[in-house]
Amino acid sequence: MKAIITPSSMLNLDLPSGFIWGASTSSYQIEGATNQDGRGASVWDTFCKMKDRIANGQSGDEACDHYHRYGEDIRLLTELGIQAYRFSIAWPRVLPHGRGAPNEKGLDFYDRLIDGLLEVGIDPCICLYHWDLPQALADLGGWTNRDSRGWFADYAMLVARRYGDRVKRWATFNEQNVSTLCGFQWGWSPPLSTELSNYYKAVHHQNLAHGTGIDVLRSLVPNASLGVIHNCQPVFAQQYDIDHQPAVELMNTHWNQIFPDPQILGVYPASCISDIEPYIMAGDLSLICRPLDWFGLNYYGPLWAKIDPSCGLGFHFGAFPEGSRHSELNWSVDPEQFKQELLYIHHRYNLPIYVTENGCGSEKEQADDNGFVQDEHRLNYLQDHAVAMAEAVHEGADVRGYYVWSLLDNFEWNAGYQSRFGIVRVDFDTQRRTPKASARWYAELIEANRDEY
Ligand code: FCB
Repeated sequence: MKAIITPSSMLNLDLPSGFIWGASTSSYQIEGATNQDGRGASVWDTFCKMKDRIANGQSGDEACDHYHRYGEDIRLLTELGIQAYRFSIAWPRVLPHGRGAPNEKGLDFYDRLIDGLLEVGIDPCICLYHWDLPQALADLGGWTNRDSRGWFADYAMLVARRYGDRVKRWATFNEQNVSTLCGFQWGWSPPLSTELSNYYKAVHHQNLAHGTGIDVLRSLVPNASLGVIHNCQPVFAQQYDIDHQPAVELMNTHWNQIFPDPQILGVYPASCISDIEPYIMAGDLSLICRPLDWFGLNYYGPLWAKIDPSCGLGFHFGAFPEGSRHSELNWSVDPEQFKQELLYIHHRYNLPIYVTENGCGSEKEQADDNGFVQDEHRLNYLQDHAVAMAEAVHEGADVRGYYVWSLLDNFEWNAGYQSRFGIVRVDFDTQRRTPKASARWYAELIEANRDEY
């Protein structure tokens, strides 16, 4: 076995007191048990059954079997010294039909998880929606139906009443941009629509659901700390080609601004307002723009945009410049841009920031005979981004915490199990968990930079 890398005698990042170190996961990606204890189907269950949609025909049916192994996963968090854990609730597990009668066994599962976390002093952060919409609601039009706002509010009410006595940190949505662009424009994920009108309806209705969800949480969770999680990245023209510059503006509007701007600044970007206007009713913007306590930033790397007339919005992901830094998944990597993005989000939205996802994927990782992975590539990525985050803080960005994506290798959507993002290796044949080199490094980073709050 090769020597285990630890970074140069532990990095002191000089972060403000109260800074928290966490890990993130999401329900469909880890829970498994999709047919157990009364859980209903989600759009991802349906989607995974379609031919050729997911690498190797895989699905989240078993995933990390976290539904049964959550106790072991809490122990892992504890062993690594992780202070906060962000997870999502599977809406169809607690409301099998999306609305109506709740599923007590599903609700019990999150009780056990939350109590287990609190017992060992780990701060739970619940995200209400990480893409697993109940199929029964999709059958009614899903996010294209304006009633979705009410469905979401009722779901938020159920879980806020149930867990709000113990959980203070809540987010409404994860990456609305990714789920609406991939689901309503690019034909990559459910509901596989490419119609522009559906896209704009889904955007506006998700914005309404966010604002209404915040009101529900605020009224039912005592001392709540409420936020929303956005994937925002700096955007450049494909390979710095000036001909693709107009795609940068489009990508900024639709990837970076169409959700956070109305939610936090109370306005849609000027570049898309006329497209979205047909779906806006009097008073909507004030329903969407509700006071928030924090901004959750998911950052992976800069985006490169290209003009693409084949899709309705006219842009798509483009190529990064040849020879520039990238991950084993060919995602662009640039820690300096992380620093710039943190400063930008700080100045634009003026909210405390939590980095709610940051991490590095691979399709090439190999475990040794003991299940151990020497993941230098991830360790280097995480270390460089931790340093960049600290620099942003020293230059004034109000960053209060960092959650690594992800605790476990898991079901990475269309890429199935072949893309691994965990700091802990999961052997999907045996469900054995083995911390990788990056997990050991992260534990040491936390140890050197932890503030007991
Ligand atoms: C983010 C998603 C998360 C995971 C990571 C790699 O966009 O929020 O579920 O897939 O990417």
